[in-house]
Amino acid sequence: MGEAAKGKVGGLAGVVAGKSAICTVGTGHGLNYRGYDIYDLARECEFEEVAYLLLRDELPNKSQLAEFKQELKAARALPKELKEALKLLPKNAHPMDIMRTGCSVLGCLEQENLDVLKMQFPDQQKIAVRLLGIFPSILTFWHHYHHSGKEISTDSTQDSIGGYFLELLHQTPPKDLWVKAMHVSLILYAEHEFNASTFTSRVITATMSDVYSAITGAIGALRGPLHGGANEAAMDLIAEFKTPQEAIDGIHKKLSNKDKIMGFGHRVYVTADPRNVVIKEWSRKLSDDVKDTKGLYPISEAIEKVMWDEKKLFPNLDFYSASAYHFMGIPTSYFTPIFIFSRTAGWIAHVFEQRANNKLIRPSSEYIGPENREFVPMDKR
Ligand SMILES: CC(C)(COP(=O)(O)OP(=O)(O)OC[C@H]1O[C@@H](n2cnc3c(N)ncnc32)[C@H](O)[C@@H]1OP(=O)(O)O)[C@@H](O)C(=O)NCCC(=O)NCCS
Repeated sequence: MGEAAKGKVGGLAGVVAGKSAICTVGTGHGLNYRGYDIYDLARECEFEEVAYLLLRDELPNKSQLAEFKQELKAARALPKELKEALKLLPKNAHPMDIMRTGCSVLGCLEQENLDVLKMQFPDQQKIAVRLLGIFPSILTFWHHYHHSGKEISTDSTQDSIGGYFLELLHQTPPKDLWVKAMHVSLILYAEHEFNASTFTSRVITATMSDVYSAITGAIGALRGPLHGGANEAAMDLIAEFKTPQEAIDGIHKKLSNKDKIMGFGHRVYVTADPRNVVIKEWSRKLSDDVKDTKGLYPISEAIEKVMWDEKKLFPNLDFYSASAYHFMGIPTSYFTPIFIFSRTAGWIAHVFEQRANNKLIRPSSEYIGPENREFVPMDKR
């Protein structure tokens, strides 16, 4: 039995914290969403098909997909009060804080109708669609208002979440190649079993709270650099170097200083993150497409090689996602919000699953504090 399984390492490593029929991560099954191999999904599907699979258990047929996309399009509009709130938030706020707040404000405006005694949640599918539809609107409305003083329209003919985001961000229709890259990226990010943010959403849901609270909490958990925030930190790292040789020397130096290299390693995977080969290939395609003059792709490969040679650490999904997003002209601080656009499907699938068989999540701790202390009255302290 490994250290993790014996519970000797912290962070609940190796602890099985519940049952789920949504996703397998490693452990002999590969990475599957509801039994479908992630490689098949990433190669063949649009993100919206995968979101449907996660939220409604089965892949959609043509007409179901068309209807789902219509629902998502109709869910993009920003309520007036939410626009006002976004205008009030500061320009220098972190975009993840904008997303967290935007989700919470929407929860005040369009409250979930739920009957916890009867365990009835008639709005939950509608709210899932609303959040998937509106999240790119929240980010881009705030972005344009604070960077160019413009209140953008959320009307768009783009029928995908990724294409819609790129069109609103750049205020011009995106290339087909970029839309395809977004589909792949969003599919890879959509679900990953009991990671920190998903587990957060299940803990909140288990108290019988509403969907908005679960997703607001999940966004907070995703923000940190040990989780979703790693894609932004990886971009900052890659951008530090001008050549592959500089990267090789720089990473050696950081490792000798015992620095953590963001975008490498994983709690569950041991030798590779299966999502990496897919996003790496897309990063390469996009680097060719934009004629990567700064050499960010070869610099990334140089970092990857040093990390493997020196530490046997491999890039996780966040590492090559960073350069892929950069090549599509996306500002670095919007990388983790894109993760939200996608993982919302996985988070809410877990909300549904938790609700369907709920039990309050409330573990115990091993007490290691002082015992039998003599009480000292206030005037003697
Ligand atoms: C993902 C992560 C949090 C998993 O962490 P974990 O299972 O708790 O493992 P630890 O952080 O305890 O790491 C185990 C050892 O590997 C080292 N290590 C792990 N990831 C590392 C990294 N990215 N860079 C340098 N060293 C790393 C640790 O320093 C530690 O070494 P030690 O035993 O000599 O102290 C960790 O790999 C990490 O911080 N990676 C960078 C952040 C990141 O990319 N997060 C996104 C995950 S998808």
